[in-house]
This record gives sequence, structure tokens and C-alpha cells, in this order.
Amino acid sequence: MSVSSIATAFARASSARKWHSHAVFGRLTSILSLLFLAAACDAPPAPLTSVPLEFAGSETCRECHAPQFGLWQQSHHALAMQQATPDTVLGDFSGVDFRYGDNVSTFFTRDGKFMVRTDNKDGELEEFVVSFTFGVTPLQQYLVQMEDGRVQSLTIAWDSRSRADGGQRWYHLYPDEIIGHDDPLHWKRAELELHVRRVPFDGSAQELRPG
Ligand code: HEC
Repeated sequence: MSVSSIATAFARASSARKWHSHAVFGRLTSILSLLFLAAACDAPPAPLTSVPLEFAGSETCRECHAPQFGLWQQSHHALAMQQATPDTVLGDFSGVDFRYGDNVSTFFTRDGKFMVRTDNKDGELEEFVVSFTFGVTPLQQYLVQMEDGRVQSLTIAWDSRSRADGGQRWYHLYPDEIIGHDDPLHWKRAELELHVRRVPFDGSAQELRPG
């Protein structure tokens, strides 16, 4: 690729601009970039391969970023969002009831899963599997993954402070007003949807897989 042919292409691009045709000019601009690339190196540019996008997981960062990985692992950031397991759940899921307005929600376990029976979008009690923990201190919130992939944040949270500090209890994030099932702030509604939309979740995978 000679410099003069690049110049010719550039001249064509300039006249294309005069036609006020954005489509043609845009195409010439990309051709120009390719010409510059071709002129810069003798070998033809390697074809672009498409790598499938998938969640790499934090472990994959360790090999190249060992000190940062160590610091991160000891920080609360590493605990920000975890699969709900006996190791990560701080709240009392031993069948305890929590009253809010006219509803009584119950936190319990079944078949090793952490569950909540609470009011659904229609105001009726329904059972949900708690999928993730969110945060550790001074409170821990719980996330429920819906069948369509949405992740909703429960508005009843666990006060993880010590008993002496008034903690170790369930409480509602909106204690002074009763949020009904038709309120935008109800936990099943859009306001309480995690801002990771439509996260595909493979139940067998131990990690969240953002899509
Ligand atoms: C194969 C080695 C390798 C792996 C694996 C790797 N990185 Fe990197 N990363 C690098 C290199 C090299 C740089 C550039 C460092 C520089 O410019 O000083 C970098 C830079 C970064 C930066 C920018 C730092 C800055 O100062 O701007 C971030 C953030 C980062 N990596 C995060 C990650 C995360 C998160 C993962 C895991 C998902 C990861 N890296 C996995 C090699 C790697």
C-alpha cells in the first residue's frame, strides 16, 4: 500500500464529504483506517475472532494481580454479593416471623435452601428462595432471583450488628410507612430490581453469570 494511494483515497473521502452523504463518508473513513493499518505493517492484519463472552470469575484475576487479589479478598468488597449458603447468610432463618403492617413474613430453610414467605406483587403470601446475600455489615440484605432472571431485593433486612448494639434482628427498610404491594417501593416492583438486568443464572454454577 503506497502513500499516494492513501492520499487518493483521502481525496475521495474529502469529495464524499461534499456530497453530504454520511453513509458513504463513514464507509470511506473505515476504509481509510484499514489503509493506514495496512501501510503501517507489511503483514495483513490478523482476522478478528469473536471470543464468546462469559463470566470469568474472580479467581482468574489472581494469577496476574496477586497483591491486589489478596487485598480485595480481605475487604468487604469480596463479600458484597455472595451465593446464599450457610457460610454467607447471617440472618436468622430458623422459622422466625416478622410482622409488617398486616403481613407476617417468615424466614426459614428447606432442603438446604434459604427461604422467605412474604407478600408477592398481588399482596398474597408466597414462598421465595433467597438466592444471594447483599452486604455484610451493619446490615445484610437478601436477593431473590425470579424465573425470568430478574433479581429483586427484599425490603426486610437483617441487622447484623451485635445484640448489645441493638442488632441480630429483622427489620424493614421503610419502617415509618407501610409499603403495600401496589406501591412502587414494594420489593417485587421495578424500584427494587437489582440494576443487573436479566442475569442468566445457571443454578449449578457457583457464581453469578452476568449476561
Ligand atoms: C494474564 C494476566 C492478567 C489477568 C488474568 C488479568 N489482568 Fe488485569 N491487567 C493485566 C495487565 C498487564 C494490566 C496493565 C497493568 C499496567 O498497565 O500497569 C492490567 C490492568 C488491570 C486493571 C487496570 C489497573 C489500572 O491501574 O488502571 C484492572 C482494573 C484490572 N487489570 C483488573 C483485572 C481483573 C478484575 C481481572 C480478572 C477478571 C484481571 N485484571 C485479570 C494483566 C492481567
